[in-house]
Amino acid sequence: MNNPKRYTITAALPYANGPLHIGHMAGVYIPADIYVRYLRLRNRDVAFVCGSDEHGAAITLKAKREGISPQEIVDEFHSINKDAFNAFGIDFDIYHRTSDPRHHETAQDYFRTLLEKGAFDVHSAEQYFDEEAQQFLADRYIMGTCPKCGHDNAYGDQCENCGSTLSPQELINPRSTLSGTKPVLKETSHWYLPLDKHEDWLRTWLESGEIDGVQLHDPSKWKKQVLGQCKSWIDGGLQPRAMTRDLDWGVPVPVAGADGKVLYVWLDAPIGYITATKVWAEQNGKDWKDYWQSDDTKLVHFLAKDNIVFHCIIFPVLLKTHGDYILPKNVPANEFLNLEGKKISTSRNWAVWLHEYLEDFPGKQDELRYVLNAIAPEFRDSEFTWADYQARVNNELVAVLGNFVNRTLVLTHKFFDGKVPDTTDAGHELTKSFGVDEAIASARREIEESIEAYRFRDGQNAMMGLARLGNKLLTETEPWKHAKTDLELAGHILNVCLQISANLAILAKPFLPNTAAKLAAMLQLEEQSWDMAGSADVIASGHQIEKAELLFSRIEDEAMDAQVEKLHQTIEDTPKSSHPPMKDLIAFEDFTKVDIRTATIIEAERVPKTDKLLKIQLDTGLDKRTVVSGIAEFYKPEDLPGIKVSVLLNLAPRKIRGVESQGMILMAEDADGKLAFVSPSEEVGNGSTVR
Ligand code: 2FM
Ligand code: ZN
Repeated sequence: MNNPKRYTITAALPYANGPLHIGHMAGVYIPADIYVRYLRLRNRDVAFVCGSDEHGAAITLKAKREGISPQEIVDEFHSINKDAFNAFGIDFDIYHRTSDPRHHETAQDYFRTLLEKGAFDVHSAEQYFDEEAQQFLADRYIMGTCPKCGHDNAYGDQCENCGSTLSPQELINPRSTLSGTKPVLKETSHWYLPLDKHEDWLRTWLESGEIDGVQLHDPSKWKKQVLGQCKSWIDGGLQPRAMTRDLDWGVPVPVAGADGKVLYVWLDAPIGYITATKVWAEQNGKDWKDYWQSDDTKLVHFLAKDNIVFHCIIFPVLLKTHGDYILPKNVPANEFLNLEGKKISTSRNWAVWLHEYLEDFPGKQDELRYVLNAIAPEFRDSEFTWADYQARVNNELVAVLGNFVNRTLVLTHKFFDGKVPDTTDAGHELTKSFGVDEAIASARREIEESIEAYRFRDGQNAMMGLARLGNKLLTETEPWKHAKTDLELAGHILNVCLQISANLAILAKPFLPNTAAKLAAMLQLEEQSWDMAGSADVIASGHQIEKAELLFSRIEDEAMDAQVEKLHQTIEDTPKSSHPPMKDLIAFEDFTKVDIRTATIIEAERVPKTDKLLKIQLDTGLDKRTVVSGIAEFYKPEDLPGIKVSVLLNLAPRKIRGVESQGMILMAEDADGKLAFVSPSEEVGNGSTVR
């Protein structure tokens, strides 16, 4: 099949409300970058676009929580994330951002065209409104009890406890996260994309690659799990989806009278790819339309599985309805990367952050690229552990690739003053059983085939396979021994090893850009075109090479222990859950009914056969009494005598595990369930009233 005339490669725009972690890299950006680096090496015409996704309720919520503007948040993380991508060599042609006026203009124009084409149905529906904050509430702004699992802090769109997708009106006891008040239902109108009306062509397009009898893509080249996810969405029946929101942050809806409404973030973000391409094209003397509106362009979206529906269903509907635009030829979405046995979680700080990795492991970007590609979740969820990272760096990069190259270069200097020695017939007899020529040719072929098929792990393995062969050749033929008796023979072996090294300098480029560049510099390879690779004749005899420098260094146990400890430490420091919402208002008279006094603990003992209960003797100033308290997880009985507490005196006595409890000691409970006594800050006598 002919190659397409050009490529538009998109990588999902990360939200600019937090830093990037290894899951982002393994799932989206490393695969996309490998693909693009490879395409460029094949001299294909590529636009590789990405940028920050700067709208959406998650960003406004964070801004409200932190008391700063959404723009300040996105400015901060746009720059942090751009720098991290740069540091890891993710080589976008442009890293744009959706808060840029240029993007607002592009998204609004796009929306207007959709309006003209009758793409939307406008209807009004009841939506939660916060009367105190005087605004409609996006799904994320409403919390309440999950109707499925009873979790108290479910969001209007999702329960993070049981994973159910929800709609705000399903929540029990909904409350606004803005004011804490109970929201009311109020009519509001929105522009809906009737996805249900697009089901038929979407199904055909995804399953057969055809629209109106024209073959647009080859579904056999798509990942099964991607097509499977789309099929199950379509089989489940697509619902109309609102493409606008009542929010004050985003791209304003360009329609008179639509004040206070913005485009749905999932409408504006993919248009961000188009804006980015426009800006890049303008800066580089290109025509952006070639990259989005020409049938001979191959559009490929890189993303993780949670974005499949947006790129395989919603965005294609938007592209096709607008008209003129091409549809993606493939969406090689990845699954998720887990970390040390758990799901990566930004809110719980269970992640390896790129900016922290760069601080802890300066100069080791290729090491992380290597490991993340080696374990990338291409077909199923996969797992990063620090032990595995260490093993792969030490046993593969250091012991195989680095060791092979280093020995080859050191020996070439030692015996041949750094000049590439000649091959000889006798030498050929010795090395031919290693099948080096075929291995070099097939490494190149396998890498090409794997990358073109989005199997980047296999591609990298093929590259490492060649390094392994080189290492084996060197170890088994021992040129350092031959050098004493038959220098020419040693020279032949080293020539072969240098040819392998030179091939590696080219074949490693898509995967390990820094390493490939270092190796090419050591070998003084002026030109490193892809087409030079695949033969055992890349560098000429007599060519002078540079001194060897280590490509990789060992990762020691201490560094790994420190990372694991940091991970567990940060998760301990991070609040896991939020405080319960305020209870309903009560009248002051209600409060006066409770009699709270200060008291001193006289003695305490465990209630037999219980884990949590302590039987505590109190001096209340009025009397001595016993209360049972569920604090044994936090306090040892022997530490308690003498501690001042507050006690609810007039609580009706209750029998707890056979012990009568006469009142209740008040405890402060934090969001993680940790308990502490509520003690007077100054010395006051027992029996003092608390009010
Ligand atoms: O899931 C996410 O992180 C989204 N910000 C991805 C957007 S991809 C695209 F549509 F821009
Ligand atoms: Zn739930």
